[in-house]
Amino acid sequence: KRVSVLMGGYSKEREVSLASGANCAAALKEAGYQVETLDVQGDIRGVIDRLLAQKPDVVFNALHGRFGEDGNFQGLLNLLKLPYTHSGVMASAMAMDKPVAKRIFAANGIRCPEGIQLTKEQILKGDPLPRPYVVKPSNEGSSVGVYIIRQGDNANPFSGIDWPFGDHVLCERYIPGRELTVGVMGDKPMAVTELKPKSGFYDYTNKYTDGMTEHLCPAPLPKHVYDEAMRMALGAYRALGCRGVARADFRWDDSKANGHAVDGLYLLEINTQPGMTALSLVPEQARHLGISYPELVSWMVEHAAW
Ligand code: DAL
Ligand code: MG
Repeated sequence: KRVSVLMGGYSKEREVSLASGANCAAALKEAGYQVETLDVQGDIRGVIDRLLAQKPDVVFNALHGRFGEDGNFQGLLNLLKLPYTHSGVMASAMAMDKPVAKRIFAANGIRCPEGIQLTKEQILKGDPLPRPYVVKPSNEGSSVGVYIIRQGDNANPFSGIDWPFGDHVLCERYIPGRELTVGVMGDKPMAVTELKPKSGFYDYTNKYTDGMTEHLCPAPLPKHVYDEAMRMALGAYRALGCRGVARADFRWDDSKANGHAVDGLYLLEINTQPGMTALSLVPEQARHLGISYPELVSWMVEHAAW
């Protein structure tokens, strides 16, 4: 099969996507596919021309973030009748818009941190939630633009913050405790990984700098919490109608105050184009299950659709 790997793109996660794409392309070659890469940048007409010239049987979408992960490119591929990896238009669009996804999760009984979408101006009038709370863009990935506003921080949460993400801000209650993630492959949750950054939270730097975060797979959790994370990840995947591989991110409040209870487990979001870099989590979980990186990307290609 001929496979075109889309990488790069127009979002703030361009560099992450270039790393994901390069790894996927190498592994697909190793698995015996005829592979061409396509750096998605510049004029979209040029991108379409180059893609059609490659005559792929399947498009491997290694884009992250806006335009690549939010349904836009998926719609284009539908119109071009090219099968592609990962989720379709609707699931991609809903997952990328965190406030929309949260509404769907709530309707399906999946616990998420209490949150509201506000304008910057509204937040400047006063804290929308008791501190600590999190402010984040509604539609970015890799923790780009995520800030934790704590007791004792400046009264104005935006002072000293660069905020090139538009007028809307998602505010969520900060869930103390532990950071967890669960890959989903088709209709099966893969494993739970716990992320332990050496300092601060699991932000962009701690995600993509080798040695900054410890990954524990399988996560050392009480069995009922582990199982509940697996169950909620699959529930989130199904609620949005995801396809192929996705990854659900969680916080678990394991504090004594919470009685170490499973109801301290909160879904933050589901990612429809999870990272495939050398430090990424889905490939690691696959390895834990005895699935090599080339086998993982081959599975994605064989489950492509449009
Ligand atoms: N947004 C990044 C790529 C991830 O979820 O892995
Ligand atoms: Mg994300």
